[in-house]
Parts: sequence; structure tokens; C-alpha cells
Amino acid sequence: MSADLVIDARDLEKSYGSGSSRFDALKGVSLQIAAGETVAIVGKSGSGKSTLMHLLALLDEPDEGTVQVAGKEAKALSRREINELRNKEFGFVFQQFFLTPNVSVLDNVILPLKIAGIRNKQRRVRGMEVLNQLELADKADKKATTLSGGQKQRVVIGRALVNNPRVIFADEPTGNLDTATGAVVEDILFALNREQGITLVIVTHDEDLAARCDRQIYIRDGLIVPGGAIHSTDHTTDHVGSHTGAHNPTHAAAHTGAHSGTHNPSHAGAPTGAHAIIPASTTSVGDAS
Ligand SMILES: Nc1ncnc2c1ncn2[C@@H]1O[C@H](COP(=O)(O)OP(=O)(O)O)[C@@H](O)[C@H]1O
Ligand SMILES: [Mg+2]
Repeated sequence: MSADLVIDARDLEKSYGSGSSRFDALKGVSLQIAAGETVAIVGKSGSGKSTLMHLLALLDEPDEGTVQVAGKEAKALSRREINELRNKEFGFVFQQFFLTPNVSVLDNVILPLKIAGIRNKQRRVRGMEVLNQLELADKADKKATTLSGGQKQRVVIGRALVNNPRVIFADEPTGNLDTATGAVVEDILFALNREQGITLVIVTHDEDLAARCDRQIYIRDGLIVPGGAIHSTDHTTDHVGSHTGAHNPTHAAAHTGAHSGTHNPSHAGAPTGAHAIIPASTTSVGDAS
């Protein structure tokens, strides 16, 4: 595979259940994603989008087929190595926020660093840097429950970002937000792509959001189909991962096990710069939600 592919998935198949209740959710999907790309995975509810994303993100394993991440074949790695790879390379932004309610905003954001074994002081420095970037520094000590929907989703983005991931996976990231707040969240994600080169893989029903991505992958009945073959008229609420076991990013993070703690010195530094990533003109909209 080419060196700048972050994800190279081949012939993925995934079924749920067995016997007469077996359901083939993915029937042979291949997909390559280059570093720095923005890719939308689009399709009706039940078409297999979340299943595909979970396989690409190493949150679940395919029945058939292979996934390489940054040139590493997932099948060849131990569970612990997979957890470390996921924690190091990926960030997650899902429709439900999956924040720990009675824990501070800062502690929610630095959870991946804790899992990675980064020392407390470094965690807090990096966590505050990210909160500054998302204009949430003043909320650092607040409980996550006290925030608005838009603020919560910014905290989720902060948690996704704190590890300097190569890829952010977003599953219906604006699904629970009003239009204006959703637009702020979208703008943040695309700014992260532009300014930090973070690859975005976004599962969405939203055609406007899909259209902002470099590339749209259309899924129907567990297969990739040409764009014209899908008319995304289905606006059924998509219960993100409500069927699959491994969809909770916190939970995903909790799987990541202990790191050596020193593998990524950039955690402690400030590679992202401290400037805010939120478009000034829209900040108030996000805060108002
Ligand atoms: N754990 C599971 N057990 C049984 N069926 C599942 C499970 N997870 C997903 N499915 C089924 O697989 C299909 C694809 O699900 P999913 O990938 O979540 O679709 P999408 O994200 O496109 O709405 C759906 O029909 C769903 O009901
Ligand atoms: Mg889904």
C-alpha cells in the first residue's frame, strides 16, 4: 500500500447473529483513506455505516477481510497493541456525547492521556491547551452535565483531539445538535483537518455535511454503491452503535490499556498551537445552545 494511506480496508464482511437470525451487515467492502483526507460515509439507517466505521476504527473485528492502519495489519497485532494503536492514532466524536457526567470537563478531555499513561501534570497542561483551543478553558472545572449540547460536543472533540490523533472518526457528530450549533461543531472538525492535517471519517445522514468532505462513500445494504444510487431521503434517527457492542468511545478508550507513557513526546508539547479553532463569528452561537 502507498505510504500515505492511513487506512486500507479490504473485502470487509461482518454479520450479526447466527442461523435464521443472521444478518449480513457488511458484504465485502474495500476502502482506502489517505492521510489528510475528509471522507463521508453516507447511507440510510441500517445500511451498515456504523458497522463499517467500527471496523475501520478497530473497535470491532471483521468476519472476513483486513484492515491496515498506518501500514500495520490489525490482524497481526495483539489486543493490547490494537488498543494502543487506537488510542494513539484515533479520536472519536459520536452522536451521543459519552461524557462522564459527574467528572470535570478537564478530566473528561484528558481521559485518553490517562489511559496512555501520560503523567498527571503533562495531562493537565495538554488538556488545558485543547480546552483553550476550543474556547472552553473557563469550563475546565465544571461538571460535564452543566454544559449545553454544543459545549458538550466541543468537549467530546477536545477528548478526541487531546492525543494528537491522525484520524478523527465522527458518527453523526451533529445528530443531536440544532442546526446552528451543529454548524459550529462541523466548522471545528474541518478546521482541524485544514490546520492540523487530521484525517476525518464522518458517518452522516446529512447531505450538506457529506458534501463538505473531499469524498463521499455511499453504503447500501452492506455494500459500497455509486453515489447516484442512493437518495438519502431517510431521516430516521440513527441510533449510533445502539446495536454494536464496542461503540462507546469512552469504553473504546477504556480498552486501550496502558501505554509505555513515553511513546509520543508531542503530547507534552504544543504542536497544535494555542490559538482558538472556533470561528470567532460563530462562537456565540455554540455557546448559546
Ligand atoms: N450487534 C448487532 N446485532 C444484530 N444486528 C446488528 C447489530 N449491529 C448492527 N446490526 C444490524 O446491522 C445493520 C447495520 O447496522 P449499522 O451499521 O448500525 O447501520 P447504520 O449505521 O448504517 O444505521 C442494521 O440492520 C442493524 O440492525
Ligand atoms: Mg449508525
